Amino acid sequence: LRWQIEGRMDRIAIIGGSSLSGSIPISGAKNSAIKLMAASLLTDEPLRLTNMPRLADTRFLGRLLARLGASVDEREGEAGSETILHTPEILGAIAPYDLVRQMRASFNVLGPLVARTGQAKVSLPGGCTIGARPVDLHLKALEALGASIDMHEGYVYAQAPRGLRGAEIVFPFVSVGATEHALLAAVLADGQTVLRNSACEPEIVDLAECLISMGANISGAGTTDIVIEGVRRLNGATHAVIPDRIETGAYACAAAMAGGDVTLTNTRADIVQSLLDKMVEAGVQIDSVGAAIRVRRGEGRLKAVDLTTEVYPGFPTDLQAPFMALMTMADGESRIRETIFENRFMHVPELTRLGADISVSGGEAVVHGVDSLNGAEVMATDLRASVSLIIAALAAKGETVVNRVYHLDRGFERLEDKLSACGANIRRIRGEAREGHE
Ligand code: EPZ
Repeated sequence: LRWQIEGRMDRIAIIGGSSLSGSIPISGAKNSAIKLMAASLLTDEPLRLTNMPRLADTRFLGRLLARLGASVDEREGEAGSETILHTPEILGAIAPYDLVRQMRASFNVLGPLVARTGQAKVSLPGGCTIGARPVDLHLKALEALGASIDMHEGYVYAQAPRGLRGAEIVFPFVSVGATEHALLAAVLADGQTVLRNSACEPEIVDLAECLISMGANISGAGTTDIVIEGVRRLNGATHAVIPDRIETGAYACAAAMAGGDVTLTNTRADIVQSLLDKMVEAGVQIDSVGAAIRVRRGEGRLKAVDLTTEVYPGFPTDLQAPFMALMTMADGESRIRETIFENRFMHVPELTRLGADISVSGGEAVVHGVDSLNGAEVMATDLRASVSLIIAALAAKGETVVNRVYHLDRGFERLEDKLSACGANIRRIRGEAREGHE
């Protein structure tokens, strides 16, 4: 039943034209939380994660961890939502297709399972609407650490009966997931591991800090070279999930699109600096103090600016669609290049339905700013594409209805509450139960 409720075909209706004012609390980062949850498998003691976002993706992973033997205790603590994960023993190191396909990053349990038990059977995650998204670098990293890897019938079988051993791993290109996976596996390996050409995303620093609190020996996280001295066992710990930089960026774009004066709280400017720089270039006023970022936009159109997505600290691919929504009504022409995923312009035809003028050629979209957008019925295709439709709808004339908001629910906690508290005219239309997720 729970599965069916989560899979409802809800829609979100927005009547555009209201400016936003007030404050929006930012949740813990989805893309950090799910790796931290996987890290809990590395110890037989409880891992307490605070500032936890409550999202479909964290629930999917919670279900898989429970199947592997974890108790998953979600509570409201003094400082907000927390989850305590405790896996005294791994009950069969098997992650079945049905649970992995719901959330690709579930694949990251493979490394911790092999590190802790010496073997695992984990379903391959399959493709995704934004690209093929292979996991070859993850598997090569585990092989370098001494695991033998076989694949049959859509499953990866990994074995390291005498444990993993440290190695030097040079990633041929930067991958967030592969860096995190190698880190998760190497902490319990015998000896030293050096990860070269690692991703530097803030979520990697967060994962490393949590592992260090659990007793791991890691240096260099946040730089391209990470050095891990393996330890024999890890202990429990308490760790606060870092703020969600993509949620922060999406609401900054929403405030700039609708106009008004919004303060984003419980976040950090340094982790979204590349976006804030582009917003300032476009004419948005940004002021940040401590954990708050104030976003103001007065009368008049924003200026079109160009951007290229890059690995951190460059402009994040996950904010490409939200920023494109902002550019649809800017003055001039904005060239937006996507370099991380091969199919990440699925929002373009939907933004076009709202009256945007965008042409795509290969990995580049050219957005010609228009004077106005008009509400229409549109369809969310993936998580970040969905929020770009919400952002555009905030400034469109009349009503926009976004279908398939289950994509949005994977990564944005209480989005309609957060926006309506600032004056947006937004509501959820409950739909029929549907079976499963794509
Ligand atoms: C993470 O995906 C995020 N997901 C993505 O956010 C984010 O867009 C991406 O990093 C880039 O920042 C999670 O953290 C759960 P990659 P990940 O490995 O780790 C190719 C969202 O909406 N590649 O850095 O999968 C890959 O196909 C999601 O929250 C290989 O070829 O990203 C891509 O083109 C979407 N082989 C590029 O590398 C591999 O083994 C970068 O991907 C691994 C990756």
